[in-house]
Amino acid sequence: MTHLRITPTTDGPLEVDGEATIVAPDGTVIKETTKTYLCRCGESKSKPFCDGSHKRVNWSEKN
Ligand code: FES
Repeated sequence: MTHLRITPTTDGPLEVDGEATIVAPDGTVIKETTKTYLCRCGESKSKPFCDGSHKRVNWSEKN
């Protein structure tokens, strides 16, 4: 059995640790991975992945 851990980082993306397949709404496989970071600020230019834009906009999970 494999485990998947998804952890929100402080004022940043979701850290995905473990075997995961990222799938688009139409079913297209975007990425198969064992480690990735998913945007939760909404500013990434490469959604669903974090591209570091949360730092540029000073995004905070508290807002
Ligand atoms: S969380 Fe990093 S770009 Fe959105």
